[in-house]
Parts: sequence; C-alpha cells; structure tokens
Amino acid sequence: MLANISVVAGPASYDLGARVAKRINADLIPVEAKVFSDGESKITFPKVTGRSCVIIQSTYPPVNKNLLEALMIIRKCVDDGAENVSAVVPYLGYARQDRAFLEGEFVTISLVARLFEAAGADLFLTVDVHSKLALSYFTINAKNISSIPLLAEYAANNLKLSQPVVVSPDAGGAGRAKDFADLLHSDVLVLKKSRDRNTGEVSISEQVDRSVTGRDIILVDDIISSGGSIIKSAQFLKRIGCGKIYALCAHGLLADGATNKIKQAGVEDVISTNSIPSESSKVDLSPGIAQHLISIL
Ligand code: R5P
Repeated sequence: MLANISVVAGPASYDLGARVAKRINADLIPVEAKVFSDGESKITFPKVTGRSCVIIQSTYPPVNKNLLEALMIIRKCVDDGAENVSAVVPYLGYARQDRAFLEGEFVTISLVARLFEAAGADLFLTVDVHSKLALSYFTINAKNISSIPLLAEYAANNLKLSQPVVVSPDAGGAGRAKDFADLLHSDVLVLKKSRDRNTGEVSISEQVDRSVTGRDIILVDDIISSGGSIIKSAQFLKRIGCGKIYALCAHGLLADGATNKIKQAGVEDVISTNSIPSESSKVDLSPGIAQHLISIL
C-alpha cells in the first residue's frame, strides 16, 4: 500500500484512474467537470492539501479541452498545497508534432511539455509515447511506460493464431514489434511505410524480404488514427498471401469510422488499450501504470 497518495482521476480517464487507485490502494478523487456553452471547462474536486497526488488524464480528442483540464487539475493540486504532483497522461496528444517536418511548422509538443511543467507537475508519465524525442522536451523527470507486455498477453490469451508474425507498418515501430514478437516467441517483420507530408497519404513499399504466406499477422502500432497505416499494410499483406490479420495498438484514436474501414481491408479485429476508451479498448493499462507508480513513489 502506498501511504498518503490520492489518485485524482480526470474526466477523460475516470475509469482507468479508478482501476489504478484500486491497484495501489490509494484514495480515489474523481474530478467533476463541466463544460459551459461557450466551450470553457470548469473542474471541481475536494482539497488535496498535504497529499501526494497522481493525476490521471489522457489528452485524446477533444485534445485541447482534455489537455487544458489536465493542466487545471495539476494546478489546483499545487494551489491546494499537495506534497507533490505526478501527471499520468496515458495518451499524450500532440506527441506526433515532435519536429518541424515542413518549413514553417511549429514543434507543438515542446510547448505542451512546458505547459505541464508550468502547471506544476513534478513528474510526468505517459504510455507508448510516439517518440523519445517528444519526451526530450520535458526538463522534469518524464518517463514512458510500454503497453506491449499487456497487449502481448491479450494476444496470447485471446487470439487463435497460426504461426503468427508480428508486423510493424514502419521502421519507427520496429523496436515495439520486436518486443511484442519476443514475448510471443514469434517472428517479426518491419514494413517500409512512407507518408506524403502534405496530403497525409500512406504507401507501403513492395520490398519485403520475408514470406508471410499462410501465416497469421499481428499488426502493431503505437497509434491508429485514420487507419491509413494499418489499411495499406493489411492490403499489402493480403496481396502477398498472409492468413488472418489482427491490428493491435496502444492508442486507438480510430477517427472517422477507421475501425470499419480497417475491417473492410480484411482485418479481423482492432484492439487497443484503455488510454482512449472505446469499443476497441479491451486491454487495461492499470497493471502497468500501477506497477510503475509502486516502483517510483
Ligand atoms: C506514425 O508514425 C504512427 O506510428 C502511426 O503509424 C500513425 O500515427 C497512424 O496514423 P494513421 O492511422 O492515421 O495512419
């Protein structure tokens, strides 16, 4: 049991916050949030004076609302006189804006990092952050927790797979896919994805040096947003004769009917974690977050 700890669960992550609080045997403080007709948010929760506060709030869409509420919750804890404030942001919005890809672009995650610090967070934790670069903009202790062990456990227990191959759509996800494959004692394949930075259009190179004929596929990514990366990967893998395909990710943004489009491309199911609650979020992150908190608090 962790003494003197309150888990302050933001409206975007109430269920996950409750699960984490239960696992670490901490007080649960649900945040009441109201959005006025002009779009302004108001948050309310009891004073946390003297407490060690763990704030849990993902910043999925509406990103700006959820982000501002996370900052408001952190600041209220500081103003209440909390002993310290740890911010757990399972899905970190803006992490993909970690560099200027085109001339004139702004590295938004660098500002987001400074906002968390200015609000008063002493420690920052996130899950499967898009890149290490995104975390490098924090000057406070900022750590990433991998969801891969939990996703792999789900796959091992729930998916009936024949000679599975774990596939990453791109080189950026190679390490993630390798970790997943190691846990399942299976093979790994890294595709070569490219994205047109102006149109967002994804394409997959035909150059692959390993056969997947008749083998089932676990496509793993950190984020599934439009579904373009998974759809193009699945279409390619089907063309070269693979078996069943499942798509697993940490963060299922699944925008604009992405799940249906992915299934139409031949994917059996889309599975994500509860960093973003949805019908697909079948993998609970609370064991991983709780274990990490117990090791550091
Ligand atoms: C990009 O490099 C990420 O790892 C994901 O592959 C990407 O964000 C997925 O986005 P979408 O589903 O829109 O292709």
